[in-house]
Amino acid sequence: MALLHFFFASMKQAQWFSHTLRGWFLKNGRTLPWRNNPTPYQVWVSEIMLQQTQVVTVIPYYERWIQVFPDVKSLAGAAIEDVLKLWAGLGYYRRARYLHEGAKVIVEQYCGEFPHEIRELRKIPGIGAYTAGAIASFAFKQDVPAIDGNAERVLSRFFGILGDIRGTERRVLESIASEVASFGHCSDVNQAIMDLGASLCGKSAQCAQCPLADKCYAFEHQMTESLPAPKVRIEKTDEFRVALRLISPFGKTLLAKRSKDALLGGLWEFPMVTLSRGRGKEHRDNALDLLRESRDARWRAWCHEKNLCLKEWHNTEKYISHTFTHIQMRVDLDEGLCNNEPAILPNGDYEDFRWVEYDEIGTKYPISTLMKKIMRMSVLGES
Ligand code: ADE
Repeated sequence: MALLHFFFASMKQAQWFSHTLRGWFLKNGRTLPWRNNPTPYQVWVSEIMLQQTQVVTVIPYYERWIQVFPDVKSLAGAAIEDVLKLWAGLGYYRRARYLHEGAKVIVEQYCGEFPHEIRELRKIPGIGAYTAGAIASFAFKQDVPAIDGNAERVLSRFFGILGDIRGTERRVLESIASEVASFGHCSDVNQAIMDLGASLCGKSAQCAQCPLADKCYAFEHQMTESLPAPKVRIEKTDEFRVALRLISPFGKTLLAKRSKDALLGGLWEFPMVTLSRGRGKEHRDNALDLLRESRDARWRAWCHEKNLCLKEWHNTEKYISHTFTHIQMRVDLDEGLCNNEPAILPNGDYEDFRWVEYDEIGTKYPISTLMKKIMRMSVLGES
């Protein structure tokens, strides 16, 4: 019952938001050259130009562009040099290349017509979730959200989304935006959100003049300064490992299978030892010292314990860095030849050891991306 009450309260809130904001927009919205009954092409060009560039800067560029390339076919047929010339001064030239590339895709794969479905629009180079939403709502008048930075700010403040809207709370934000969109006139409402975000609900808010202040969560709780909440940064643990590629007298390589509950459990790799795990600069400096001073001794002990007779030995002087969600890992690679090929019993992180042919690694024995990177460093190659 409580949940149902919450559901209807939030629906009423979204409806009031949509209705009130549209009323404000019809009186106060900006008149902009791409807003008067635009074609999908016009929305696309303007939205790409408006990424990372202010509205006042974009206006003359947009007007010139539409004169020279009035539609998707004229853009698709242009030489890239002419496209870039017209873009010169706007910066981030990759955007112009995307427009050109995208125009060709629309002409070649969609007979020169923009697809109406968001999913299809997103297949076009350079069109992400936001631009697809803008095209669908402004040009095709579909009731779908278009969430840019302005929308993130306005929605998180009004509806009181307190967590990370680009992380854990993204789905909440998207579902609220869809609910707002469901009350219709979405082209107006989406532009209203943009205009409010660019004016009264900017980084520093002017709540006294805001049409939404009466029911705004952030205004009521004096949280406009702290919403949207800054992205939560996870400080990663640094882990320093050394991997050892060992080759037997019969040309086989020693592989180890990670235990089920270890990181990358069930996958095969050159055996590794972890020299150090911790956080911060001091730890990293100490770990590098440890790497220089004790890595050979660690391997000698490891090989001795497993009855491996080392013949030759070298540090490759190579390492790779690999990022996991909570761990930043550095793996250095050592290589060696041994005089025997003993059976090795499982222990610690490893539930199995095998001597294998090099071309079985990654085929018969599945490996991780980390291991692929390590293999590329191997000096001994496929011997
Ligand atoms: N910023 C991004 N898109 C915009 C649009 N269509 N109108 C105004 N400002 C914007």
